[in-house]
Amino acid sequence: MAETLEKLDDLVSLCKRRGFIFQSSEIYGGLASCYDYGPLGAELKRNVKNAWWKSVVQMRDDMVGLDCSILMHPLVWKASGHVDKFADLITECKKCNSRFRADHLADENGNTMEGASKAEHLKDKICPHPKCKCVGDFTDPMPFRLMFETQMGANADDSMTVYLRPETAQGIFANYKNVLDSTRMKVPFGIAQIGKSFRNEVTTKAFIFRTREFEQMEIEFFCEPGTDEQWYEHWKEHRMKWYTDLGINPDNLRMRDHASDELAHYAKGCVDVEYKFPFGQGDWQELEGIANRTDYDLRRHQCGMRSTTSWFENNRDTEKTTIATENEDYHKGPLSFFDDQAKKRYIPYVIEPSAGADRGTLAFLVDAYAVEQLEKDTRSVFRFHPKLAPVKVAVFPLVKKDGMPEKAKEIYDDLKPHFNCNFDVKGAVGRRYRRQDEIGTPFCVTVDGQTAEDQTVTVRERDSMEQTRISVDKVKSYLREKLDM
Ligand code: GAP
Repeated sequence: MAETLEKLDDLVSLCKRRGFIFQSSEIYGGLASCYDYGPLGAELKRNVKNAWWKSVVQMRDDMVGLDCSILMHPLVWKASGHVDKFADLITECKKCNSRFRADHLADENGNTMEGASKAEHLKDKICPHPKCKCVGDFTDPMPFRLMFETQMGANADDSMTVYLRPETAQGIFANYKNVLDSTRMKVPFGIAQIGKSFRNEVTTKAFIFRTREFEQMEIEFFCEPGTDEQWYEHWKEHRMKWYTDLGINPDNLRMRDHASDELAHYAKGCVDVEYKFPFGQGDWQELEGIANRTDYDLRRHQCGMRSTTSWFENNRDTEKTTIATENEDYHKGPLSFFDDQAKKRYIPYVIEPSAGADRGTLAFLVDAYAVEQLEKDTRSVFRFHPKLAPVKVAVFPLVKKDGMPEKAKEIYDDLKPHFNCNFDVKGAVGRRYRRQDEIGTPFCVTVDGQTAEDQTVTVRERDSMEQTRISVDKVKSYLREKLDM
């Protein structure tokens, strides 16, 4: 009988105890909503990112990768609409001045409306306040900008306000022409990027689910207008399959179309891949968004490119700069694409599957976690897909004598260049198995008394707990086959 996760708290304490995830700056009392990945968490998250990169870049002929800087020219964010529109509606409790996201507060007070209308609903309402429980009297919803700002440059004449990117996507749009000019890619093709993004979120939540610094795994897929719906469907299917291929239980995964008033300012359509997390209202929470961004971004950047004079005239004040209006022949502009087979020029449409590396890691942790009642005891186990497991193999001597530790060390040294391995000699072997189960190690190799006689070891599989005797010289190929690496 296996028990799955009901409370996030159990996972949070296990993650801390075994070195997956720690609160940032804990020795100073912690920094809210910021987390650090410990030795096992760093491996797990890297495996998630590598699996994504392999699936969307390495395995596809129509995709390439990119790694852009976090700081970009501020006009990028003016042209993209983020300077003016990337804000949450917040409301302030008139009694204690605490601020809340208006839609979240409406949710917590049982409102069932969608999107912006939720915020409207709060006007003139007095709701019980979720934190301090005073019965709040709230201000009208007002916009709160989510981008972090910082100053760049030491000299007064060249310093300016720049933004920490709130999405990696804009770095891709800004480099789309560079990629076309420097590679043999032609539309339809896509660019993938993994990197940090920053948002001054009004409310953070649930461990690493919503934080102010996080990592995104984003694709911008450029296609001919008119083929966008077809590519939208393609990516929906591709991305759902990625999660289930890596072991996510399909019952915990669904797609939800955005209502029209929920759509971002750039999107024609958007679907959320949602996971049934063990927290929040109704459990289902966004894991990834897949949007049809049309030609919005490339068209806006064509206008932005023509706005630099006005930006200098305004003393590099991005807020005061007006983005140039669109030319009538925008479809022939510098970011247009000439399709030499169809002999036509157009601005490509963009399909954007945008996933969170941290949110994905949380979903893989939640989905893999189980507490099992065995005959004599219980065990806590992460049933990670072998590709994601932080440690692939643990090697043990059964006891610390008769040359067993030396032989186990020899096997460990032989496996180490190929798999992330652990070597453990401490405590009873049953306890060592449990320690590995708890961190999700798929295989344990044990050297015992028989090893010296016939050069065999036992290989114990995490999920079935079955042990198979394998000759020492076959262990590497056996594991390679089982781990598919
Ligand atoms: N470029 C489109 C875009 O950024 P988004 O829906 O705002 O779209 C995409 O973000 C994904 O990034 C989300 O589905 C989520 O996985 C992740 N994400 C967004 N904000 C986050 C936050 N504050 N903390 C952790 N992950 C976040």
